[in-house]
Amino acid sequence: METLSLKVVGLSGSLNENSRTTIALQQCLSFIEASGHSTHLFDLKTKNIPFFSEANRQVSLTAQAMIDEIRTADALIIATPEYHGSYSGVLKNALDYLTKSEVETKAIGLIGVGAGQYGGYSAIDALANVMKTLHGIVLPLQVSLSNSHVVIQNNQVQCEKHSYRLKLLAEQVIHYSGKLRNRAA
Ligand SMILES: Cc1cc2nc3c(=O)[nH]c(=O)nc-3n(C[C@H](O)[C@H](O)[C@H](O)COP(=O)(O)O)c2cc1C
Repeated sequence: METLSLKVVGLSGSLNENSRTTIALQQCLSFIEASGHSTHLFDLKTKNIPFFSEANRQVSLTAQAMIDEIRTADALIIATPEYHGSYSGVLKNALDYLTKSEVETKAIGLIGVGAGQYGGYSAIDALANVMKTLHGIVLPLQVSLSNSHVVIQNNQVQCEKHSYRLKLLAEQVIHYSGKLRNRAA
């Protein structure tokens, strides 16, 4: 049987230099790459997507590039910092450009990163609602990284437990997006 090569797009909701959220996302994507699939991190920091309006949806090349990346992907992994009990504004703005046609029946992996002891659970819950509204298939395993300034240092997730959960998420993304691709074929 031919092995499927999947395309997985990552989106990080932090614009910070050395963002811990982006580091966690990259680690998850690297597990997927190591399994022979292709990944692409769409970097909101360098792409400068304007505030959403119907007019900007028509004219913004960077927004179009993001939409196209997601449309052609088998799965999407969204990582966000926890900001005041939710996900980041820059991410909300990017997601407002999406419609069901890019997202529906795609596997959606979620990662939340917070400095506090509860990590990114509230951000993940809020994001799950958004992605379900877009008819994405939000995966059952979601990864919340707590105490981010301790757990993520020197450009790496230092905690084995969190690292293991990022690997499990990568495995789920591959498993479910492969099944969904087969079903659509
Ligand atoms: C505006 C703002 C709000 C925040 N709110 C929370 C919060 O509610 N809970 C929490 O655990 N951490 C909170 N944090 C901390 C960030 O989630 C944490 O520093 C995270 O690692 C930032 O991710 P980054 O390194 O990818 O930018 C907040 C940080 C900022 C700047």
